[in-house]
Amino acid sequence: MRRFLPRLILLGSLPMLTVACAAIKDSKPILPIRQYEMMLVGRVDAEYVGTDNCVAKCHYHDKITDDFKHSIHGEQLKPGTGLPLVNCESCHGAGSLAIANLDDDPDLNDAQKKKCDTTTFLDIMNLPPQAQSLICLKCHSAASTPSLTHWNASPHAMNDVSCFDCHKLHQGPQQKVSRDEMSALCYGCHPDVKAENQLFSHHPLREKKMACVDCHEPHGSVQDKLLKGMTPKETCTRCHMEKQGPFAYEHGDVMENCANCHTPHGSVVDNLLNAAMPALCFQCHGGHTLDNTAGAKQLFVNRCTDCHSQIHGSDIPSGNGTLRQ
Ligand code: HEC
Ligand code: HEC
Ligand code: HEC
Ligand code: HEC
Ligand code: HEC
Ligand code: HEC
Ligand code: HEC
Ligand code: HEC
Ligand code: HEC
Repeated sequence: MRRFLPRLILLGSLPMLTVACAAIKDSKPILPIRQYEMMLVGRVDAEYVGTDNCVAKCHYHDKITDDFKHSIHGEQLKPGTGLPLVNCESCHGAGSLAIANLDDDPDLNDAQKKKCDTTTFLDIMNLPPQAQSLICLKCHSAASTPSLTHWNASPHAMNDVSCFDCHKLHQGPQQKVSRDEMSALCYGCHPDVKAENQLFSHHPLREKKMACVDCHEPHGSVQDKLLKGMTPKETCTRCHMEKQGPFAYEHGDVMENCANCHTPHGSVVDNLLNAAMPALCFQCHGGHTLDNTAGAKQLFVNRCTDCHSQIHGSDIPSGNGTLRQ
């Protein structure tokens, strides 16, 4: 019964998940990349005017501009010329038409209630997600940002999640998602993981001693489930090195995937186990007796590891070679 508890809790949170991600799951057909590129051309009759010209004529963007100047993007200068590499227009499209009717003096514009004509920019929030991401990808190629190598085939890209969904560029000077705010961001779309992490045995995510990106690469990976590392085992042994082996006495090949016995986010059973012992072990083994005399009683135990203490493998032989018993 105990092992079904997590599922019940998960079921409880299912309606929430469906509402939160309904729009995203309603996948639209993916178009040829050229079509997305065309959506990003913007107004061909507009000119690029540079960040200073863009913002000089209005007060409204003071905080945005200030944050931007102190961000990694704002600090990127072309070597030699000292010209900025990233402008407001790199993402929003050319700006000359937007400010064409404005006075040089922002106070005068305020008095006359004249505003920047934002309709001449790219309609950045209403583009299809693939086009939104393309705005970033024109600079963030895999060559410049290696973590994006597998982006296009990732479950996020394939399910209409765009860079904007995770990177809020104008919330402050920081553009990278910080470890502190990460869980809240990811839980927004993955509430089931949040529920799992509330369980008794859990990786210390809710204590903020770990973050999702310790095990996942949100931009895409060579493994299933966006896991970091080359193999399922490697995802875990980067931290739990003592379980890596190879051992003289291996536990068959079950150790190749720790998920054979463990669940990563949380469990009602101690040690993040998938199921309590002996049920965990009975999935693959039968019970046994301790002597071979006919009619010997089957051993009745809950904790098989009381005797088989080196369950992950051992280099030290035991009399009978059974993981240290
Ligand atoms: C790296 C891409 C990028 C750059 C550079 C950029 N923006 Fe944005 N901007 C966005 C995105 C994406 C949004 C959509 C909303 C969001 O994520 O905050 C946005 C939204 C906005 C909005 C609407 C914000 C709101 O809260 O409604 C304004 C105004 C704006 N940007 C101004 C600027 C100004 C001014 C600059 C230059 C100082 C600038 N942006 C530079 C990507 C960018
Ligand atoms: C005009 C080119 C350009 C565009 C467009 C652009 N970036 Fe960048 N971005 C850069 C450069 C250059 C850097 C600094 C070098 C680096 O980290 O690769 C950078 C750095 C970053 C960083 C790292 C910040 C840090 O703290 O380490 C993030 C995150 C980022 N960009 C996200 C985005 C997102 C999201 C978009 C799309 C909305 C975007 N960028 C669009 C050029 C661009
Ligand atoms: C599902 C959420 C999510 C999406 C979607 C996403 N990112 Fe990120 N991104 C993150 C997180 C989380 C980090 C912080 C990684 C870390 O701390 O190791 C990050 C870090 C980065 C960095 C910093 C350098 C690095 O490799 O860690 C860049 C640049 C970046 N993202 C660009 C992008 C671009 C461009 C896109 C769209 C093609 C994108 N991201 C889509 C969550 C996301
Ligand atoms: C805007 C919503 C959204 C955000 C934010 C988001 N995800 Fe996702 N994520 C999705 C969708 C949609 C899928 C694909 C469908 C699915 O498997 O649920 C997905 C898939 C995944 C998968 C793979 C599941 C599989 O079955 O292959 C992992 C792992 C994942 N996300 C982790 C993260 C992490 C870590 C973060 C935070 C850095 C994050 N997600 C942020 C929407 C989101
Ligand atoms: C200790 C490593 C680890 C951490 C930390 C971690 N995950 Fe996972 N996650 C995994 C593994 C391993 C799987 C694959 C489980 C499987 O295949 O049964 C997974 C699967 C997922 C999935 C796919 C659905 C599922 O439950 O199988 C999502 C979504 C996900 N993780 C999101 C997150 C989010 C969000 C965070 C941060 C709050 C996070 N993970 C933190 C290891 C981790
Ligand atoms: C970034 C480092 C890191 C990674 C990667 C990692 N862990 Fe952990 N693991 C920890 C930390 C930290 C703890 C908590 C230790 C403590 O509380 O003393 C922990 C605890 C555990 C525990 C004991 C839980 C308990 O209730 O005491 C198990 C089992 C475990 N991890 C398995 C895994 C598995 C399986 C994976 C791969 C899916 C994995 N870990 C990946 C850092 C990591
Ligand atoms: C055959 C099942 C099985 C597999 C596969 C397995 N474990 Fe375990 N693990 C257990 C059991 C059972 C315990 C509890 C040990 C006890 O009761 O003494 C445990 C405990 C742990 C602990 C906490 C106690 C300790 O020994 O540090 C960590 C961490 C851990 N396992 C990591 C891993 C990692 C990493 C992998 C994959 C490389 C893995 N396990 C694969 C069964 C397994
Ligand atoms: C996913 C299947 C699986 C699970 C779960 C599992 N095992 Fe195993 N176990 C194996 C395989 C496969 C072998 C190797 C069998 C062989 O070589 O004949 C093995 C071998 C063993 C051996 C004999 C090792 C030797 O040196 O002869 C012992 C003892 C053992 N397991 C105990 C346990 C215990 C205790 C548990 C529960 C904590 C457990 N196993 C969980 C698959 C599993
Ligand atoms: C009291 C100590 C003890 C406990 C508890 C115990 N075992 Fe054993 N186990 C042994 C000994 C001793 C051997 C070697 C017996 C032999 O060679 O006949 C062994 C051998 C094994 C073997 C390999 C023998 C074979 O059949 O090839 C497996 C598998 C195994 N145990 C699984 C389990 C499981 C599953 C549990 C929990 C239900 C468990 N053990 C509980 C002491 C124990």
